[in-house]
Amino acid sequence: MVLHMPPRGRERDRASGVPRRPAQPLPPAPTPRERPLGTIGLLWALRTNPLLTWTRAHYREPILSGRSVLGDLVIVSEPSAIRHVLVDNAANYRKDDLQLRLLGPGLGGGLLTAEGDVWRAQRRALAPLFTPRLTERFRPAMQASAEWLAERLRRQRDGRRIDMAGEFSRATLDVLERTIFPQGLGGEPTKFIEAVTRYFDTAGRIEPFDILGLPDWAPRFGRNRAAPALAFFGEAVEAMIETARRNAASGATANAPDLMSLLLAAADPETGRGLGDAEVRANILTFIGAGHETTANALTWATYLLATHPEWRERAEAEVDAAGALDPEHLPIVRAIVDEALRLYPPAASLSREAIGPDRVADLRIRPGARVVISPWLLHRHERLWRDPGAFDPGRFLPGRREEIDRFAYLPFGAGPRICIGAGFALQEAVVILAAMLREFRFDPAPGHVVEPIQRVTLRPKNGMPMILRKRQASGGAGFFS
Ligand code: HEM
Repeated sequence: MVLHMPPRGRERDRASGVPRRPAQPLPPAPTPRERPLGTIGLLWALRTNPLLTWTRAHYREPILSGRSVLGDLVIVSEPSAIRHVLVDNAANYRKDDLQLRLLGPGLGGGLLTAEGDVWRAQRRALAPLFTPRLTERFRPAMQASAEWLAERLRRQRDGRRIDMAGEFSRATLDVLERTIFPQGLGGEPTKFIEAVTRYFDTAGRIEPFDILGLPDWAPRFGRNRAAPALAFFGEAVEAMIETARRNAASGATANAPDLMSLLLAAADPETGRGLGDAEVRANILTFIGAGHETTANALTWATYLLATHPEWRERAEAEVDAAGALDPEHLPIVRAIVDEALRLYPPAASLSREAIGPDRVADLRIRPGARVVISPWLLHRHERLWRDPGAFDPGRFLPGRREEIDRFAYLPFGAGPRICIGAGFALQEAVVILAAMLREFRFDPAPGHVVEPIQRVTLRPKNGMPMILRKRQASGGAGFFS
């Protein structure tokens, strides 16, 4: 794969013509193609890394449509058209078949993939777990996970090469255990991480057979390799359900709601309908899958971006040192860094829908069955919407400038009724953990490692993110305190 790492950015600020400080290398991203891929190339790219399919035109044009092996395809990167699809006429769009096939084996029937009344009942049942008040109540638990990770790193020697993608995965899984799954995950956390990684890496590949619409019994080799991970999840989930039922029977109720008890007690207030066992299982996996890899990726990319932009790292360290407690409200720079990492490397890099009935998006006629793709990856790097789209500049998200960003030009958590239920939870968690890292450690890029974004359900660094650990105390970092 060709990585887009030009040695220099533009010499002058496009708007003001003012000479800029020497430009830094742009964060890694595939070079846009000059021309669209043919069928074989497209199938290959979709399977290996869908980011490789985008052409220069995708980064420039508001809407592109055409026919391909994927059927009628419309790529929408125009904020008001996105608003139309995700909000104003959301009822005309459902999750598309490819996405359902991709996530179906483990997550099918859970909140992420359900539709209609089933989705509504689940969303209503689980919403109480993600109110702003409860998210705030989870903050000490997130701080405890951050401390747990810091303690792991303190035990390592200065200068050691550590895979931070793995470390953040452990920490975000630990957060889930301390918050929405307080009765534990029913399995060894390391095994969980291995199983989740394996699941996304195998089941999460877009198989040519899926695109060509072959029936489910036709072999998907990647999907077969996901079988051991699914078997592991199955056993773990059974153990979790059993523990939750035992707790409920013995009257041992937690003082805050948790996911398992809400799932088991869930009955839709309007219909009285409860969730079936299969729905409970799918939701446990959904929340583990959607709630841990995504935030871990955001933290991994933020840490890498700071390692390659020392001026922002110093500003963030100064803010954290002055703030004392790890309280997101007093950490606007850390928050802006998380937001900018989510812009450049949105963990959910592509949202796709299928039109149910005919529609009109901007000037374009949409036929029933058309696949409408809204790609946060493209949108966040779109030339019409962002200045220096490929550059890392958390300043865009600082108060004063952040208000200039169109709500529908920045969609790390989606929008409309299917917006991420865990958005507030994830942002608080990412800020708390990143701040805890900044307070004590510095991470430098590992020599010889090529960083490459790859889309496998989530957008993650290919082959992890090895980094060199530096302890700020040892390296004489300013303002260190523990
Ligand atoms: C940085 C972290 C995260 C990112 C970038 C992210 C992104 C997203 C996006 C874009 C969607 C909408 C998908 C669509 O419209 O097709 C979504 C949905 C969802 N997310 Fe997240 N998410 C994150 C963290 C979390 C967390 C922490 C949880 C739970 C603990 C979670 C649970 C879910 C669920 C259950 C849905 C489905 C909601 C529905 O359809 O009603 N996510 N997420």
